[in-house]
Amino acid sequence: MPATDTIPTPLAKAAASAHRARVATPRRFLMCEPLHFDVTYSINPWMDPGKPVDPGLALAQWTALRDLYRSLGHTVEVIEPAPGLPDMVFAANGATVLDGKVLGARFRHVERTAEGPAYLNWFAGNGYRELHWPEHINEGEGDYLVVGRRILAGSGFRTDRRSHAEAQEFFGVPVIGLTLVDPRFYHLDTALAVLSDDEVMYYPAAFSPGSRGVLRELFPDAILADEEDAAVFGLNALSDGRHVLLPAAATGLRRKLGERGFEPIGVDLTELLYAGGSVKCCTLELRS
Ligand code: ARG
Repeated sequence: MPATDTIPTPLAKAAASAHRARVATPRRFLMCEPLHFDVTYSINPWMDPGKPVDPGLALAQWTALRDLYRSLGHTVEVIEPAPGLPDMVFAANGATVLDGKVLGARFRHVERTAEGPAYLNWFAGNGYRELHWPEHINEGEGDYLVVGRRILAGSGFRTDRRSHAEAQEFFGVPVIGLTLVDPRFYHLDTALAVLSDDEVMYYPAAFSPGSRGVLRELFPDAILADEEDAAVFGLNALSDGRHVLLPAAATGLRRKLGERGFEPIGVDLTELLYAGGSVKCCTLELRS
């Protein structure tokens, strides 16, 4: 056999991954209805308190996402939204949950500080016994993304690097630090999405050169997003192993996901984008 036949070319690799059976597994999510959603302060480049948001539309878009999860067979729990916490809709930031253990969130900005205890209380009241109130700033699944038995951890804008060691000690799985460098992509979940236990997609320019190297090393076949898809928050996506829910405007990523055998589902959360959030931001995964 000629040597070239044994070397997997990028094309052959893509074809192999397209033929991988994509199986959805039922998930449990925590979400928070955007009853008090608004943009009254600015803590990321997307937020402009001068631009009015449409609360009715925000609620309708969020409700459609919740119903979509349920129609796909997933369980959605809800936490009561608190007045005066307009960003509480972004449940992903409320904690990180793995093996039934809950690492609480400690927010960088005073505007969101009260969300940390609010979310941790929900866990305390819903049967979770292993709760950890964090010493260091971390914004939950905004910056902690579980990939199989590893956690990718962002820092640079929100989560303190020292929190990565705290998370590793608490969960007992490897925590891999990645540095974010573009303020538009201030949380890891705006620059990278987990697709399966060993696959991700990401926008390389959102990461420092060293972190790009780490990602190439860990995920040589990852789907790479271009700036157009990243700018419409296409990476703020949620995969159940088969269906990938992502902002509808991310057309390039939808095509690439389809080529890999995933079933992309475009979702409209345009109103929440005024606060710098979309699909993944609204969704906290409860991993028992
Ligand atoms: N306005 C919120 C903030 O700046 C948006 C959070 C989005 N959540 C996320 N998981 N990326 O904190």
